[in-house]
Amino acid sequence: MDKTERVHVLKALSEHAANGTTADAGGVMRAPMSDFTCPQLLAQEQDVFFRNTPLCMGLSSELPKPNTYWSDNETGIPMLMVRDGEGRFRAYANVCRHRGARIVPEGRGSKTRFTCPFHAWTYGMDGSLLAVYKSSQFGNPSCQELQLIALPSAEMHGTLWVRPTPGDPIDEDECLAGLQDDLAHWKLPDFPFAGTQFIDARMNWKLAIDTFGELYHINILHAKTAANEIVGDLQTFDGFGRNMRMVAANQRLHMIRMLMPNLENWPYTHLTSTLYFLYPNVVMAIGGVGVDFFRFFPLENSPSKSRTTHTWYIDPKVQKHFTDGAMSYEDRLGKFIEVVETEDYLMAQEIQANAEHGILSDIFIGRNEPAVQHFRNAFRSGLGRDLLTVEDIPTE
Ligand code: FES
Ligand SMILES: [Fe+2]
Repeated sequence: MDKTERVHVLKALSEHAANGTTADAGGVMRAPMSDFTCPQLLAQEQDVFFRNTPLCMGLSSELPKPNTYWSDNETGIPMLMVRDGEGRFRAYANVCRHRGARIVPEGRGSKTRFTCPFHAWTYGMDGSLLAVYKSSQFGNPSCQELQLIALPSAEMHGTLWVRPTPGDPIDEDECLAGLQDDLAHWKLPDFPFAGTQFIDARMNWKLAIDTFGELYHINILHAKTAANEIVGDLQTFDGFGRNMRMVAANQRLHMIRMLMPNLENWPYTHLTSTLYFLYPNVVMAIGGVGVDFFRFFPLENSPSKSRTTHTWYIDPKVQKHFTDGAMSYEDRLGKFIEVVETEDYLMAQEIQANAEHGILSDIFIGRNEPAVQHFRNAFRSGLGRDLLTVEDIPTE
């Protein structure tokens, strides 16, 4: 996201603010409620999205130096991600070749080898089987043939991607679809890991994503909370293949419009939150204190349950304010998620319950909710379903 692009976005936000408009999807979309309740659809989503699509797992700073690891189970396939001694990112199924135990407990750390807790088979950072406990007694297994199962992995502009199923290498253009310059601009590897938390909720995983996709609700649902910070019903929208970028303005925009007519000099990061959807299950919001990175997963094979993992990577420029003790990382994580949990997810869980009653067959996604429209069709195109179209609705 170079300077020209940032100025372009600021100009659009400023014009919308002056005219009382927002990004316009061109029409209203009608979408089926059954997408949140159908078990067959969930099975297809699990197979296509959570087994056979490259997933953005987090930022490069998860593995800050050579010989570090991150073990994560959220996709359903236990994954061991490492940065090897040469600094290369690699991923494996975190499954021992002996009897299938999980080798490394969930978490992050530094290591040069991994020893299975069951019978102490030991693996290297390159996935090779280095040692078998009492090998001759066991039967001299072939270390060459019993490597860890490698998963396709790629590190792209400060983001880590893994496909949970072995196979072809990951294609950068397919994953980023034109967002390369944006991601490079943010210098994401410079943002260290600050903390992570998760929310389990009784709603479809796509409903959780929808809560991040429009600002139409800000002045209503968040009247006493987020509306103090973010300007409601004001955003830009740009699609990048199945990914998208939307930019929100914070309340300082109103003041700066009065004070500084030349928007070329406006401090972009202090005026905006830039939110990316990285198909199929990531929302990444970049603002004044760093990157809030959300991953969404179906939970317990139920269309009615989901888990959101929220990881915060702190902007190194503001890190000092937190380590000085003004506010702890935990306070900030907790406060941020409180609004999501008690306001957004409350609505989404009610929508889930109503989808299950079956009282409504369809819902409507407005022309001022372009990202939510985009999500619907990104998922549909990924599954090879017909795309939903927007309709013109009569205006007075
Ligand atoms: S299952 Fe890992 S060493 Fe036996
Ligand atoms: Fe919200």
